[in-house]
Amino acid sequence: MLTLPGLIDPHVHTRDPGQTHKEDWDTVTQAALAGGVVLLLAMPNAKPPIFDAETLDLALQNAKQKARCDYAQFLGAGPNNGDWNKNKDLPPRAAGLKMYLDSTFGELRLNDMTLWTPHFQTFPKDLPIVAHSESRSMAAAILFAALYDRPLHIAHISLKEEVLLIKAAKERGVKVTCEVCPHHLFLSSSQSGSGLEGGRSEVRPRLATQEDVDSLWENLDVIDCFATDHAPHTAAEKDSDTPPPGFPGLETILPLFLTAVREKRLSLETLIEKMYLNPKRIFRLPDQPETWVEVDENAAYEIRASEQFTRCGWTPFEGWKVRGRVRRVVLRGKTCFEDGKILAPPGYGKNVRG
Ligand code: DOR
Ligand code: ZN
Repeated sequence: MLTLPGLIDPHVHTRDPGQTHKEDWDTVTQAALAGGVVLLLAMPNAKPPIFDAETLDLALQNAKQKARCDYAQFLGAGPNNGDWNKNKDLPPRAAGLKMYLDSTFGELRLNDMTLWTPHFQTFPKDLPIVAHSESRSMAAAILFAALYDRPLHIAHISLKEEVLLIKAAKERGVKVTCEVCPHHLFLSSSQSGSGLEGGRSEVRPRLATQEDVDSLWENLDVIDCFATDHAPHTAAEKDSDTPPPGFPGLETILPLFLTAVREKRLSLETLIEKMYLNPKRIFRLPDQPETWVEVDENAAYEIRASEQFTRCGWTPFEGWKVRGRVRRVVLRGKTCFEDGKILAPPGYGKNVRG
């Protein structure tokens, strides 16, 4: 039996409020616990988007009633909430600020760079701005971080040019950190015959070439965090004529990486750095005393959507053979998950910015 710290996932879409047929605070935190994640940071592209006091309260009320593991909620950067000096009480109640600079699921999107400036100038510098920014817009976001001398965390990097750019920026002292998702390390755009076709393969950023994937693995030391970007949409939605982008990931991230550790593609120390130590430091998350995850390292099994707690009903890793199963999760002294059963009640989860 292997004991790990309680894992932190800095990038999760709860779908609550507004799209609870896909997921809600209850099911997403069950999926988290089953995956060894005890603290998740929730993205703001809900319905309505979370961007002011009223919508933050709405998300946090739902979380307070339903969440079974710990959490914090991001605020979204919109066109009209850029002056954070007018709303000084809000940022300390949030995980940080999320800026959508490229197109994806939901309404939050800042096209015009003049809209970026007030956010970079006024969002408190002790918390990172997290940017969905791909390729050249990533270069622009990193320039903004340098100009305004503030921390910027790049979400879900997927390309060779991106990891090399972040490496260069870090070497020059820009306060930039980044995360990568399992699907951008274990899947590529040339995957065929894997059952991951059509709408099921849609995700933003898109799956990249094998050369990009290889480059991410080669530059793992540049990457600060592993994050799921758990983005549940139902199997029916994914198979429709208008498939929304996104993959679930909370219940597959740990077995995928433990299998990679077994294959010597990374060390266990690196896994703990990227799934616990670094997200804790970057997002200034508090200690969770008496918290750990027990894993049966040798358990071999196939990933099955039918065994998952997420409401979305599918996984891009269906049938993958992995080693390493979460046996028990203890959060703040309570056994919250054991042998396939969720034991924490709704409401046990705490807002770590509460
Ligand atoms: O594939 C994605 N889905 N990428 C995103 O950035 C958003 C997410 C979602 O919310 O579904
Ligand atoms: Zn996302």
